[in-house]
Amino acid sequence: MKTSHKNKIVVIGAGNVGEAIAYTLMVRKQANDIVLVDVNEDRAKGAALDIAHGTSFFKQVWVRQGGYEECADAQLIIITAGIARKPGQTRLDLAKTNVSIVRSITENIMEYAVNPLILVVSNPADITTMAIWETSGLPANKVIGSGTSLDTARFRYILSSKLHVNIEDVNAYILGEHGDSQVPIWSSANIGGFSLDEYALQVGVALDREAIAQHTKNAGAEVIGLKGATFYGIAMAVSNIVEAIMKDDGALLPVSHVLDGSFGDWAGVAVSTVCRVGWGGIEQTLRISMDEGERASMDSSVKMLKEFWEQVKA
Ligand SMILES: NC(=O)c1ccc[n+]([C@@H]2O[C@H](COP(=O)([O-])OP(=O)(O)OC[C@H]3O[C@@H](n4cnc5c(N)ncnc54)[C@H](O)[C@@H]3O)[C@@H](O)[C@H]2O)c1
Repeated sequence: MKTSHKNKIVVIGAGNVGEAIAYTLMVRKQANDIVLVDVNEDRAKGAALDIAHGTSFFKQVWVRQGGYEECADAQLIIITAGIARKPGQTRLDLAKTNVSIVRSITENIMEYAVNPLILVVSNPADITTMAIWETSGLPANKVIGSGTSLDTARFRYILSSKLHVNIEDVNAYILGEHGDSQVPIWSSANIGGFSLDEYALQVGVALDREAIAQHTKNAGAEVIGLKGATFYGIAMAVSNIVEAIMKDDGALLPVSHVLDGSFGDWAGVAVSTVCRVGWGGIEQTLRISMDEGERASMDSSVKMLKEFWEQVKA
């Protein structure tokens, strides 16, 4: 098969999430060569073929199964491999298993790729981001965790529904851990330049912040309860990050990476902050203003991640 190696993206893990990501990238033509890698080669072949069969309805994109050697000339490598929590398995056991999976995947990638850009989706996403950063030896800005991108998308969706406003006018972030200690940043949230309270007052809607934060946090579990898995939401969140990278458009995104010493107590931990993302990966880590309560919640989210990381490594 003739393949083009320009704008090549390798997706490792061709399960629900990896397959939905490959499909979204193909439909949006965000790469012209998409390679799926999985320990279950048949699964990766099947997923690639299923998507490739539809390429005649779009512009030319090659979608195929492959091995780790494909990472050598890939512009971006997306890691979605992992296992789902089994009955009786603790959160810590699951994290240890997925960390050991992503560490071995990283060793395979580094055998072929020089200074690659890696986007991490496997859960627990901040912990796997730390593991991949540590194992790869890459600079922190080249190992990007999808972090709270999906949580932020869910938050914006819920706010837009409550306020009956176009979601594009909703500017609001969830930062911190991709998980239970996530932090809604209410103080800088705005609707088309109006503060949330001002906008809610003018349209006559009462906003229950606690209920919205809780709904956002539980949104993944809600979908899993209803249909057994989540994959479209994360695929679109990943596609949005890919857009920022491949178009080098400097988008501001809530993504995770290991923070440097300038972040004081947060240094050494992968956690979502607002970042400017482009061709080089994370190009700048910004400091969004937070009120005292939000900062305290960020402090405890980081502390929780730090302690969990120590337990995973023990
Ligand atoms: N970050 C987020 O917001 C977010 C959202 C949804 C799901 N996820 C996570 O994404 C991951 C994948 O979820 P899914 O629903 O696709 O699971 P899945 O079970 O459908 O697919 C996982 C795939 O990983 C493959 N795999 C396992 N070990 C591997 C290895 N060593 N090398 C290569 N491939 C390997 C499996 O064969 C399988 O095809 C999970 O960790 C899930 O929790 C993250």
